[in-house]
Amino acid sequence: MGQKKLAVFASGRGSNFQAILTKINDGWIPACIGLCITNDPLAGVIGIAEKHKIDMRIINPRSFPDAEAFNDAILKELLANEIDAIILAGYLKLIGRQIVERYENRIINIHPAMLPAFGGKGMYGHHVHNAVYESGARVSGATVHLVNTEYDSGPIVYQKCVDISDVTSPDEIAERVLKIEHEIFPAAVKLMVEGRLKVKGKRVEIVEG
Ligand code: GRF
Repeated sequence: MGQKKLAVFASGRGSNFQAILTKINDGWIPACIGLCITNDPLAGVIGIAEKHKIDMRIINPRSFPDAEAFNDAILKELLANEIDAIILAGYLKLIGRQIVERYENRIINIHPAMLPAFGGKGMYGHHVHNAVYESGARVSGATVHLVNTEYDSGPIVYQKCVDISDVTSPDEIAERVLKIEHEIFPAAVKLMVEGRLKVKGKRVEIVEG
């Protein structure tokens, strides 16, 4: 089978996108990025895509009558570009049912906490780290999971935790968690593109390479 062609969806600065790109460029992840999609015309990720000459589409939900039409436009781009799998690298919109069905178990997301805690609608970016800080939790971490039609609830692929017992602010948690994200997200993407994830209900079995 030929090399897998990935699309990256991102709404923000794109540090996870960059971490994955680095591992693709050095040959560790056997795939290429065929397309980058953002919903935000000001996203930092646009600069990264331009620098690496990756096709970029700004698909703004405000240009569409509803979420259905917005997701139809995204799916059209994915199919036109023969995309095999999707990476959500800080993408803040809910993925439409039509995309989830078409790309079943081929959409992967990173969440900056230990799911199933501190996830769900509205739990993104600093909201997550604030909630973790306020909860008094002594560990946090990152979770990579496959994507279904609800926020942060698909089968978990990878998790890694970090001690936060000595932090004095949510920003310190964010900093420690981001380091972990850049470690486990490329590793999980590699497993997905190598076809080593076997999904059994909510559990994911990792097949030896
Ligand atoms: C990360 O913390 C990720 O877990 C979350 O959004 C943030 C994106 O950061 N989903 P970046 O744009 O990859 O730097």
